[in-house]
Amino acid sequence: MSNENKTIHDFELNLICDFFSNMERQGPGSPEVTLKALGFTDNLNDKSLIADIGCGTGGQTMVLAQNVPGKIIGLDFLPNFIEIFNRNARQLGLQDRVKGIVGSMDNLPFQNEELDMIWSEGAIYNIGFERGLNEWRKYLKTGGYIAISESSWFTDERPAEINKFWMDAYPEIDTIPHQIAKICKAGYLPVATFILPENCWTEHYFALKIAAQEIFLNKYAGNETAEEFSALQSVEEELYRKYKEFYGYVFFIAKKIRQ
Ligand SMILES: C[S@@+](CC[C@H](N)C(=O)[O-])C[C@H]1O[C@@H](n2cnc3c(N)ncnc32)[C@H](O)[C@@H]1O
Repeated sequence: MSNENKTIHDFELNLICDFFSNMERQGPGSPEVTLKALGFTDNLNDKSLIADIGCGTGGQTMVLAQNVPGKIIGLDFLPNFIEIFNRNARQLGLQDRVKGIVGSMDNLPFQNEELDMIWSEGAIYNIGFERGLNEWRKYLKTGGYIAISESSWFTDERPAEINKFWMDAYPEIDTIPHQIAKICKAGYLPVATFILPENCWTEHYFALKIAAQEIFLNKYAGNETAEEFSALQSVEEELYRKYKEFYGYVFFIAKKIRQ
């Protein structure tokens, strides 16, 4: 398989983890956008319980924690990310309210109706947007919010090159109206939808990758797979710059209004 045809799924998890653990966040986003999404929610108090699913090393979780009352559980299936997450929480003095646990988003360790809010930035694609919305709903209290960022098409038609890239990487990517329809179908009230600004990709994601890439390539000097993985990161950036009018990340905030 040529590198051109590889997607992130073709690489070992350890390698992926090693690359991204050198970054403050593992997907496009920013503190401003996390706070903007948070602004569409309400009703949190000291007793609230929030889950951040696919939290990575917790870039967005710590921003949340500094701006909401209650407890936050960050869940990710990579133990290294959770170790860094808990270290970050301790360094910020948030360890009493913020805890990272290793777990899988397709088998969440929560009770029915236990959560006041479900947060998930750039991670639901691992289970699939529709499946995640449906399966996670039971853990949310009636009146609770779900806030998710997910890659989405901005147009009904797009150039073949970018269409193929996404069909190989994540065929469930969809247009914004279709995503909203899925939110309604899963039994939530859509509250707000907004496109993440470009700086979430350029400044808060691609720029951080440069330093991560350097550390990674030094560590894996001469390792062909690692070099290929690193090169794929540059392909993703080039594609984004070329086709950003056709796709991007979108934040969806919705409310569970009935049981
Ligand atoms: C693109 S990263 C986003 C991380 C973080 N939310 C952010 O925005 O920086 C996706 C995250 O989902 C996690 N993940 C993938 N599959 C998972 C699963 N089945 N259960 C839990 N976490 C998973 C990955 O380890 C990774 O941390």
